[in-house]
Amino acid sequence: MTDLTTSTAVTVTMTVNGVEHSSELDPRTLLVDHIRTGLGLTGTHIGCDTTSCGVCTVLLDGKPIKACTMFAVMADGAEIMTVEGLKQNGELHPVQAAFKEKHGLQCGYCTPAMMLVGAALLEENDDPGDDEVRWAISGNLCRCTGYMNIVESIQEAGAQMRAGSNGVEADDMELQDEQTDADRPKEATMQEVAE
Ligand code: FES
Ligand code: FES
Repeated sequence: MTDLTTSTAVTVTMTVNGVEHSSELDPRTLLVDHIRTGLGLTGTHIGCDTTSCGVCTVLLDGKPIKACTMFAVMADGAEIMTVEGLKQNGELHPVQAAFKEKHGLQCGYCTPAMMLVGAALLEENDDPGDDEVRWAISGNLCRCTGYMNIVESIQEAGAQMRAGSNGVEADDMELQDEQTDADRPKEATMQEVAE
């Protein structure tokens, strides 16, 4: 009979935001805990821990997955993107710029996952309709903002991408790094209109 009180460490290798990491892990380590605690990427959040709220969402080989109910060993050899990986070469990803522009957040706790889901959608379809965006974010809950501005933000990002924008310089947006760090919700933009 397996003794669940002890386990043997395993080596898990994954590429996170373009950087390869090999780590010795308890095989029972959840992917979200490895990302947050092991790798220190705290933009990925934990809410319900039961696959309901979606705040732990990261992209695994380009697809959104909920990292709270996946073991890190299951991501061995995979490419992971967290919210920290959206900004490239000092430029905000269009979805980050659009969330800022369209006030797609309030406290910001759900925002990293919403942006990742939006970015994944736009990779497949850069001109999604309301229903397509709402379907894409249906696994992500926001408890303090109406979804209307989130939907508009993702569509605005698509419009920027269709216009050829790969990103917006962070300085141009007067948006500092910490404003995209949803661990600091006090700095997030207040939203006046809730759905
Ligand atoms: S923490 Fe993973 S879905 Fe809620
Ligand atoms: S939970 Fe979505 S902005 Fe607060």
